[in-house]
Amino acid sequence: MVSAKNILIIGASQGIGNGFVQKLINQSDTGHIFATYRTENTAENLFSLKNLYPHKLTTITVDVTHENEIQQAVTIIKSHVNKLHLVINCVGILHEGELQPEKSLKHLNTDNLWRYFQVNTIPTGIWGKHLQPLFKHSESSIFAIISAKVGSIEDNKLGGWYGYRTSKAALNMLIKNMAIEYSRVSKNTIVIALHPGTTNTKLSTPFQKNVLPEKLFSVNRCTQQLLSVINNVTINDNGKFFSWDGSNLPW
Ligand SMILES: NC(=O)c1ccc[n+]([C@@H]2O[C@H](COP(=O)([O-])OP(=O)(O)OC[C@H]3O[C@@H](n4cnc5c(N)ncnc54)[C@H](OP(=O)(O)O)[C@@H]3O)[C@@H](O)[C@H]2O)c1
Repeated sequence: MVSAKNILIIGASQGIGNGFVQKLINQSDTGHIFATYRTENTAENLFSLKNLYPHKLTTITVDVTHENEIQQAVTIIKSHVNKLHLVINCVGILHEGELQPEKSLKHLNTDNLWRYFQVNTIPTGIWGKHLQPLFKHSESSIFAIISAKVGSIEDNKLGGWYGYRTSKAALNMLIKNMAIEYSRVSKNTIVIALHPGTTNTKLSTPFQKNVLPEKLFSVNRCTQQLLSVINNVTINDNGKFFSWDGSNLPW
């Protein structure tokens, strides 16, 4: 018998990650949800859910740029469960304080480029390293990472957003590589990259003015669409990059 799903949502304070927790917490096949947040300041919605579902939801504080915090989070998860069925990494930055996406080469600077990679790229590999034992079981499992279509090298027609694009392109290679290694050591795990479509969150707010209303998804619609993709993937989809409508994107 397949057990109720144990789920980890990384970056669940707001935006798409918070939307996933809201949706999954009510599903009958959900066992326990672990949800990470960086700071209490932006996590009120998550804490409200925690108050409503104290036995079903565990919140864990993690700044994903610190490996020791990722390691501690995994230790906490292991103290509750011995397997995970679904992990979705929703952490990402496009802008952060003074850091804004670069329109031209003249805007590039080393600190900003490093920050994009520090948040958008590296943590997925570190989570992949520490979470692997929790994926080694006989039931089907999914490790989904929210990437972005602008990280596709083949699809790049516009240029700009150097740091965000390159950090997501590198993330895509990391996901593909991880999918290959997981297929050897954790044979029932499907590792995939997901593009959510432009979604109305803090990340996209400054860049929405040229987006047609019908192309701007609510968090509710975005998470519904991505869960539909997640629910339909099979082991043959390991290592693929999916758009919100289930179509394949080029790496
Ligand atoms: N929204 C879109 O249109 C869109 C389009 C394509 C791809 N995406 C991707 O979708 C993912 C989710 O984005 P979103 O739209 O939901 O953005 P969001 O509302 O800004 O949420 C981003 C999440 O990442 C967390 N985070 C940022 N830096 C962190 C760090 N160092 N440690 C831990 N958590 C950190 C934030 O936590 P805090 O609350 O602490 O800031 C927040 O929970 C990202 O990977 C993004 O690149 C979004």
